[in-house]
Amino acid sequence: DLLKEIERLEQLFSIDTAKLKQITDHFVNELEKGLRVGGGSIPMNPTWVMSFPTGYETGTYLALDMGGTNLRVCQITLTDQKSEFDIIQSKYRMPEELKTGEADELWEYIADCLMQFIETHHGDTAKLEKLPLGFTFSYPASQNYIDEGVLQRWTKGFDIAGVEGHNVVPMFEEALSRRGVPIKLTALINDTTGTLIASAYTDTKMKIGCIFGTGCNAAYMENCGSIPKLAHLNLPPETPMAINCEWGAFDNEHKVLPRTPYDEMIDRDSPRPGQQAFEKMIAGLYLGEIFRLVMVDLHDKQGTHIFDGQDISALRKAYSLDSSFLSAIEEDPFENLSETADLFQNRLGINPSKSELELIRRTAELIGTRAARLSACGVSAISRKKGYTSCHVGADGSVFNKYPHFKSRGAEALREILDWPEKTNPNEEDPIEILAAEDGSGVGAALIAALTLERVKAGN
Ligand code: BG6
Ligand code: GLC
Repeated sequence: DLLKEIERLEQLFSIDTAKLKQITDHFVNELEKGLRVGGGSIPMNPTWVMSFPTGYETGTYLALDMGGTNLRVCQITLTDQKSEFDIIQSKYRMPEELKTGEADELWEYIADCLMQFIETHHGDTAKLEKLPLGFTFSYPASQNYIDEGVLQRWTKGFDIAGVEGHNVVPMFEEALSRRGVPIKLTALINDTTGTLIASAYTDTKMKIGCIFGTGCNAAYMENCGSIPKLAHLNLPPETPMAINCEWGAFDNEHKVLPRTPYDEMIDRDSPRPGQQAFEKMIAGLYLGEIFRLVMVDLHDKQGTHIFDGQDISALRKAYSLDSSFLSAIEEDPFENLSETADLFQNRLGINPSKSELELIRRTAELIGTRAARLSACGVSAISRKKGYTSCHVGADGSVFNKYPHFKSRGAEALREILDWPEKTNPNEEDPIEILAAEDGSGVGAALIAALTLERVKAGN
């Protein structure tokens, strides 16, 4: 019985090379479409980050990093040694209630965290000159300037009324001035853009910045001449412009991605049905939930008898399993999967049998493998669009850094999509390598603030 179920799940979740290639082809078209017109499903947002750093930027900047899970405040000093910096930072938890609460509460919480950081590191704020800040706001935003951002829509489970369609910078600045926080916002950036710029600061082969974390997205450097939707601005065609792809929205029309009934359930019950189709199959916010839905379905289905006669009420709670739960299953080193058994017992009050444990492990593998393989389609699509046959890709985020085998599975899929020959030497680099970005967003935000102030000084 269970073997049959495993086979069914394998069919649902496996993506072969031909399909990966088909997804990549469609992806390239969608990237191009997003650059042509407003309103394509991938927004391809111009970020007004218009150069790579030289490594010789200097100065002290604050960076505020509002991801999906944590809030981080950093102070970064770019030293006059090439590509060297000092950083101090504090992390604050992003309270769950804030994600679906009132806009004012969100901005005030952020202002309080910033104030606390400045008081700790600078003492009396009354005497301070305003410090320049790079704000990493990791949601899709339209920008006509680098210091504004009109939220297109919330992603990653956020749902705060009155923010979508508005420029978030004045809301943020009002909260700062109400609290007397001595800060001047210099640049609003996406985490992918920050990762791209910070990666290129230390490695000039870095051409793409990716996040595989709570959400999933990428940024790369385009030429203004290849962005038809900016043609009316008559920017010099060779001028670079970093593009925040917002590729989580890839295939919202459901043309190529092989969605399972579980993906459809996730979408239907999310705060934004119909959006972020690609992200919902890859990002950390959803991996544990996909797994949970499979388990509940197998229990409830007639004839499967998984966890038969056991109380599965804990398993029925939506979003109760995060991606670290799947990581733990995939990392269980024991042949008899005893750690997985303990996990099910302690977290869910369920005692799985031996064959159920095997099904659990295989399901986790299938979900984790599918995510890694799909993510390679996005990387290959940008590389193909830009004609990069050899480059480095900087990646950050909890899934990339912590999910077992995510990197090797992604690398294998890239190899299949791009038809690379087998390596003759295992230590040899792949033509396109996805590497961990060192503290992307903090340093990236500081560098972008520095580049912006240089541009302002130069009068551009
Ligand atoms: C962090 C970056 O390391 O990774 C953030 O500093 C980014 O800017 C985050 O948003 C993404 O990972 P996760 O797993 O926290 O969503
Ligand atoms: C979501 C956001 C995007 C961000 C990504 C990774 O996709 O929309 O802006 O880059 O998550 O954090």
